[in-house]
Amino acid sequence: MTQTRLIKNASQVVTMAGHSERPAKREAMHELNIIENGSVLVQDGKVKAVGTLSELEQQYKEDVLVAEVLDVTGKTVTPGLIDPHTHLVHAGTRENEYAMRLKGKSYMDIMNAGGGIHATTKATRGADFDQLYEESKQRLDTFFQYGVTTIEAKSGYGLSLEHELKQLEVAGKLNEDHAMDVVSTFMGAHAVPVDERDNPEPFVKRVIDEMIPEVARRKIAKFNDVFCERGVFTPEQSRRILEAGKAHGLVPKIHADEIESYGGAELAAEVGAISADHLLKASDEGILKMAANDVMGVLLPGTAFFLMAEFADARKMIDSGVPVALSTDANPGSSPTLSLQFIMNLGCLKMGMTPEEVLTAATINAAHAIDCADRIGSLEAGKQADIAIFDVPNHLMLSYNYGMNHVESVMKKGELVVG
Ligand code: NIG
Ligand code: FE
Repeated sequence: MTQTRLIKNASQVVTMAGHSERPAKREAMHELNIIENGSVLVQDGKVKAVGTLSELEQQYKEDVLVAEVLDVTGKTVTPGLIDPHTHLVHAGTRENEYAMRLKGKSYMDIMNAGGGIHATTKATRGADFDQLYEESKQRLDTFFQYGVTTIEAKSGYGLSLEHELKQLEVAGKLNEDHAMDVVSTFMGAHAVPVDERDNPEPFVKRVIDEMIPEVARRKIAKFNDVFCERGVFTPEQSRRILEAGKAHGLVPKIHADEIESYGGAELAAEVGAISADHLLKASDEGILKMAANDVMGVLLPGTAFFLMAEFADARKMIDSGVPVALSTDANPGSSPTLSLQFIMNLGCLKMGMTPEEVLTAATINAAHAIDCADRIGSLEAGKQADIAIFDVPNHLMLSYNYGMNHVESVMKKGELVVG
């Protein structure tokens, strides 16, 4: 039996229709393609049609007659939000470092003293599969509550083949077991292990010669990411790591120009990365190179907020032709939040984006950033029925009443997972 559902009478259905083709275009970021008094017909886990109720009743009479109805009068319906950059799988928290930073210690000082990523690496190495699975599963449940229906998840708190594989296996198992779609990224080059910091080259070689080939052989990641930052991996090391991933079929991503301007945006363009993420300190030249090479800018304003740093210049990027996506960067050190809605608020209030742009950035552009725009990110016939229903009468209210969770219910592949 085919399961048919009708979400009817939304005050707005934000479809994001027409943005699915690659490459994403920054000009289209303000075109939400809203249907006022809209309805969505869902069948077999996919969107069958979107329109006004009378249009759907006329064109799909038989389906509408048998459909299970969800009346969403007065609410706003959007594609399920997509978070294209998270460090989902990790053990523990770092509120002690937060307290230190509030007293003036910097993120990099803490990391260089063996805390930061190293602290979470220690905790994650010490955690077994089940503990990591359980902690991460709870985070996925929370992501659902906040309207997110697909996330990307990075490894990078193992820093050895064994523990990187453990993280990726947890993400892969959750992708199978949990209704959330989890897209995996290998990030063995997240930090140089503490005891090798004076001589990083052997670690870089292990990433290239051992980890990347094994991750690729097991087909447990789609992307390969590197933290290109002074004191972590140089642009030259990052380039070798990303090229090695490419040779094994892993698509490059990069943590670029987060703390310092370091050539990360330029490198992203040169290696053909699908996205460059962070970009707080990206150079003008790097931004132009990204635009010329269709590199998505994944901006993480929660990180700037939490590190008390300057925000990325989203306005400049969009105006220079770089399409932008938004993400939580959910992680225990630089952005311990699971609320992509709050990130959207920050996009408007701190990065000069419009409410239309932030919604595009958290849906179809986020889908582009993880190469899934052919099946998610918009409400169009044939796409996965991943749908967020917000208890607000229009999309502007999402960023107007800030810091709140407006989710009323969430549908994943046609099934209600929240509400
Ligand atoms: O995206 N910059 C590097 N990685 C993460 C932070 C990870 C951590 O602090 O645990 C980020 O900010
Ligand atoms: Fe990150």
